[in-house]
Amino acid sequence: MGKFENKKVLITGGNSGMGFESARHFIREGAKVAITGRNLDGLKRAESELGPNLIAIQADISDLRGHAALANELRERLGQIDVLFLNAGVGTFAPFEQSTTENFDQTFAINVRGPFFLTQSLLPLLKEGSSILFNASIAAHLGMPTASVYSGSKGALKSIARVLAEELAVKKIRVNILSPGPIDTPIFNRAGLDPKETENFKKQMAESTPLKRLGTVQEIAALVAFISSPDAGFITGSEFVIDGGMSKL
Ligand SMILES: NC(=O)c1ccc[n+]([C@@H]2O[C@H](COP(=O)([O-])OP(=O)(O)OC[C@H]3O[C@@H](n4cnc5c(N)ncnc54)[C@H](OP(=O)(O)O)[C@@H]3O)[C@@H](O)[C@H]2O)c1
Repeated sequence: MGKFENKKVLITGGNSGMGFESARHFIREGAKVAITGRNLDGLKRAESELGPNLIAIQADISDLRGHAALANELRERLGQIDVLFLNAGVGTFAPFEQSTTENFDQTFAINVRGPFFLTQSLLPLLKEGSSILFNASIAAHLGMPTASVYSGSKGALKSIARVLAEELAVKKIRVNILSPGPIDTPIFNRAGLDPKETENFKKQMAESTPLKRLGTVQEIAALVAFISSPDAGFITGSEFVIDGGMSKL
């Protein structure tokens, strides 16, 4: 019997990278998993690859008007939720002097405002004993040049998660933070760099970890599953750094 038999999981941004691999992991362990994302092709690919225990829903987390409809659909199709992994996020990088209000607003709308209010909308579906996990980033700790907007958004998410851990404890809901370092996912292809720059950036990132490599999505999925499981039942308000030793936090 799998560790998540009869459990219901929602992963935002589950059609790619860490979210997709986490969905695969939860399904392998017996869960029924709903994923969201904007890209329809990615959602369809996930459905055909992960089978009948995967529900793919097209939803933009930054569109607050869609949150009530998403909550209703989840109530109908999943019932209650045991695990909420707020994973959807974006990161574009620019020197401080070239940072724009458009990029700032879009990044905060997706990385902070969206998960904040989606969690609020989903609260009635979250069971006693459920787990909420926010995907932040090690960038929130490092003073990485060109990452001011991204780092700021992830720092905000972490601060919010800590408060929710305290406030939601009365409902026996655990709230934790995942802080990955460089993980090999398609996010690097979306950072606004050309293919050669992307490869160089990934190499540079791998070199900057003591383990001299990027992390894998399988390593992330295993940690996500642990934090979301009853094995982590006494853990709330904690941050899990998974960065190959990059930050040494
Ligand atoms: N890879 C790394 O090195 C790294 C390190 C630290 C933290 N992280 C964080 O890890 C999380 C997952 O990223 P990843 O590396 O797995 O990258 P990824 O493969 O690009 O996945 C990002 C996911 O977020 C979804 N998403 C983005 N904007 C969205 C929106 N407005 N509404 C709904 N879904 C949205 C994407 O789907 P659509 O595009 O279809 O919407 C996709 O499923 C992100 O929060 C990222 O900041 C990544």
